[in-house]
Amino acid sequence: MKVLRSVSEVRAWRASARRVGFVPTMGALHAGHLSLVERAVRETDAAIASIFVNPTQFGPSEDYTAYPRREAEDIRLLEQHAGAAVFVPPVAEIYPPGDATRVTPGPIAAPLEGAARPGHFVGVATVVAKLLAIVRPDIAFFGQKDFQQLRVLQTTARDLRLGSEIVGCPTVREPDGLALSSRNAYLTPEQRRDAVALSRGLFAARELWERGERDPRVLRERVRELAGGGSVALEYVSVADPVTLAELDTPAATAVISLAARVGRARLIDNVLLGMDVADLR
Ligand code: PAF
Repeated sequence: MKVLRSVSEVRAWRASARRVGFVPTMGALHAGHLSLVERAVRETDAAIASIFVNPTQFGPSEDYTAYPRREAEDIRLLEQHAGAAVFVPPVAEIYPPGDATRVTPGPIAAPLEGAARPGHFVGVATVVAKLLAIVRPDIAFFGQKDFQQLRVLQTTARDLRLGSEIVGCPTVREPDGLALSSRNAYLTPEQRRDAVALSRGLFAARELWERGERDPRVLRERVRELAGGGSVALEYVSVADPVTLAELDTPAATAVISLAARVGRARLIDNVLLGMDVADLR
């Protein structure tokens, strides 16, 4: 597997590759990331991942410096999963001196994570637009766990005509339901036990939906009843339209229930998609 550190190295690698699948990551890889790499290997001729902890998507009081960095182990995992290449740029390769251009996504970035983390999606859209311009993949794969990120990137790639398909892939979970996240590493054993309430609340609402309940207020309430407690402090529970992320107040044929919570020093997010498959969103 090729380890590429500069834009010119990626461009030279890209010139000899055919159909390229790309998995952008911030490293600290887990089975969720690796499932995206497996999709890229299956569906394209060459799978390339990136490992870059993007400073512009972290707020001033967030965990940029504490974010787990495990480059050697990540590279080994990518190699085992048949990655063809990995791009591991230094910060100055993505944000060279004088860099000042930012990508501001549309209204889809305003609620939920956009409201809780001002500037976050500008950082995400900017770095992903840069990475797509460098790698020029045919398909880029993102996890459903960061559902709003997926929708922000699908609209950004469409609006800027970036030429890559942005494909969402199902969330990978622990056997007890907790969504895999690099930030789960921050949890103490007790917080880890409490954190299962998040998926429990979402799954209970999904069960109501499967039994025919469509009232967003009832679904929201079900999650609130079950998803908190112990060290889990819920920040928001949202029942929204999966395409626009506009909050629902009347029954609809499709919905995404999203939540965010503080569990100790970790801030965790999760969601369930109802009435449609993540693969149907483009
Ligand atoms: O989901 C992530 O890990 C990051 O937000 C991404 C998409 C790699 C951009 O830095």
